[in-house]
Amino acid sequence: MSTIKDVAKLAGVSIATVSRMINQNGYVSKKTEVRISEAMEELGYEPLIIRRLADHSMPTIALILPDITNPFFSELARAVEDICQQKGYTVFFCNSDNQDFKEKSYLEALRKRKIDGIIYASNYLTQEELHKLQRDNIPVVVLDRSSDNHKCTLIRCNNYDGAQLAVKHLLDTGCRKIAHIYGPQEIVTAQERLNGYEDYVKSFSWYTPSLMAPGHFQLEGGMQAVETLLLRHPDIDGIFAGNDFMAIGALKALHRKGIQIPNDIAVCGFDGVKLAEIIEPELTTVAQPIYEMGETAARTLIEQIGNRDAKPHLEVIEINVSLIIRESTRRECESQ
Ligand code: RIB
Repeated sequence: MSTIKDVAKLAGVSIATVSRMINQNGYVSKKTEVRISEAMEELGYEPLIIRRLADHSMPTIALILPDITNPFFSELARAVEDICQQKGYTVFFCNSDNQDFKEKSYLEALRKRKIDGIIYASNYLTQEELHKLQRDNIPVVVLDRSSDNHKCTLIRCNNYDGAQLAVKHLLDTGCRKIAHIYGPQEIVTAQERLNGYEDYVKSFSWYTPSLMAPGHFQLEGGMQAVETLLLRHPDIDGIFAGNDFMAIGALKALHRKGIQIPNDIAVCGFDGVKLAEIIEPELTTVAQPIYEMGETAARTLIEQIGNRDAKPHLEVIEINVSLIIRESTRRECESQ
């Protein structure tokens, strides 16, 4: 069995460099990564954690996430790990950086080593891959970014209704021209929230599609969207952002322009991450039941692992969102 030392020697780098690449915790140039990967391939090297998966010495599930830098997913991972710890399972966190090829290589590695189960919280799972996993008796639970055609248990929140809750709240605070900053439309949660916003406002005389701008579910995207929207419509007085990250970016851009929140422009987010209550002004948001979603996914998967000969459990568990009203929409205006 080759060791990390053999890999370092063959690749002509230090053991520390190989370790940094395996654990993704430090810089390794692309050129060096290729040399190390080739050495691993040539030696048939497998990191210890992958080897231990193969001998089933510890029941392990994998949680595949698209963006570990977004607090929504780290809070989700917290819940999954808590339940797994209680049940004696190890959790293998796989961060795909929203990259299809990374997800596919994770799934292949996990499938080969017969992982006990997978919670899939990302967006590239195909029916074909799901079928391969189920054929190998590896239960899968899809969490959050689930579309209805997956033949497995889906756990998510009511995104469409949550978007309508956000728009109604902004109207109730006196807003009369509300814009929407939307997430990537290839992601079902972003689509459902945009649809919820548009279906609510499209009958209003002030509505036009140019009141919607992309924010890519990122902080910088929220900032950029504010620039775009204010150039198109300087008279907007409310913004609904499809996640808290974009809403926080929007608050920063509005603050830089000297725009008063909420009295000039009220802002509402979506997710309910802890960051939303720490920033100034505190962010009104449509809170997803993040912990409950992660907890339910872990419990459901562990139950299915214990009963893995049963047919895939086709069930949609939809958990309701709730509106948390904070400073970013509390307006002193006569219409309240
Ligand atoms: O903030 C990240 C977003 O992606 C969340 O709204 C979550 O629902 C996921 O789909």
